[in-house]
Amino acid sequence: MFVRTERLTLRRFTSADAEPFAAYRSDPAVARFQSWDPPLPLDAARETVERFAEGDPEAPGWFQYAVDLDGVLIGDLGLKLHENLMQADLGYTLAARYQGRGYASEAVRGLLEHLFVERELHRVSAEADARNLASARLLERIGFTHEGLRLSNTWFKGEWTDDLLFGLLRDDYLARRLSRPPPTPAPSA
Ligand SMILES: CC(C)(COP(=O)(O)OP(=O)(O)OC[C@H]1O[C@@H](n2cnc3c(N)ncnc32)[C@H](O)[C@@H]1OP(=O)(O)O)[C@@H](O)C(=O)NCCC(=O)NCCS
Repeated sequence: MFVRTERLTLRRFTSADAEPFAAYRSDPAVARFQSWDPPLPLDAARETVERFAEGDPEAPGWFQYAVDLDGVLIGDLGLKLHENLMQADLGYTLAARYQGRGYASEAVRGLLEHLFVERELHRVSAEADARNLASARLLERIGFTHEGLRLSNTWFKGEWTDDLLFGLLRDDYLARRLSRPPPTPAPSA
């Protein structure tokens, strides 16, 4: 377990996650602005979660955090640590039935607390397709700065698309954190 929030646990993937992972990644609405094309067959999901399970969260490259609600996999957070180990790019996916309840915000806030306070990262960046309003709302709600818009920058699923750019600096995160109480950790089981 890496992070515990009020309702969620961020933990390493296990082979038991393959079925729910395949289910939510096969949802066309969930995949709409993501790099993969649905459906995700169960065999491919098994291979993917096994690769995730072996990842090193403190090594450069992508690491995938499983978002767990009472033992159920409801989504994942992807973090690409740069070679300098001080910067990272963030991605997130929530199964459709768990959206609209604040779980993504809670998971990302928990991960940011871990990254900025415990691991002392300097900066976290995120990009979203400009049409992905739920993603932009999530980043703004959490306190990311909207840093720009790259017009027609990405060839994505058959068309040129606009990218919204967001960033959050450790200094800004810590300054805001001082003005509010820290997240309440859930009682340990
Ligand atoms: C991006 C994504 C993770 C956002 O999920 P989300 O459920 O909208 O975000 P949150 O979990 O923070 O929930 C916030 C919403 O829940 C509502 N909500 C309900 N109960 C809540 C609670 N207890 N606490 C906080 N928010 C609550 C909020 O009002 C908000 O709704 P709004 O955006 O309509 O105002 C989700 O849309 C997703 O997985 N999309 C597909 C994958 C994807 O595109 N990823 C991003 C690639 S860049």
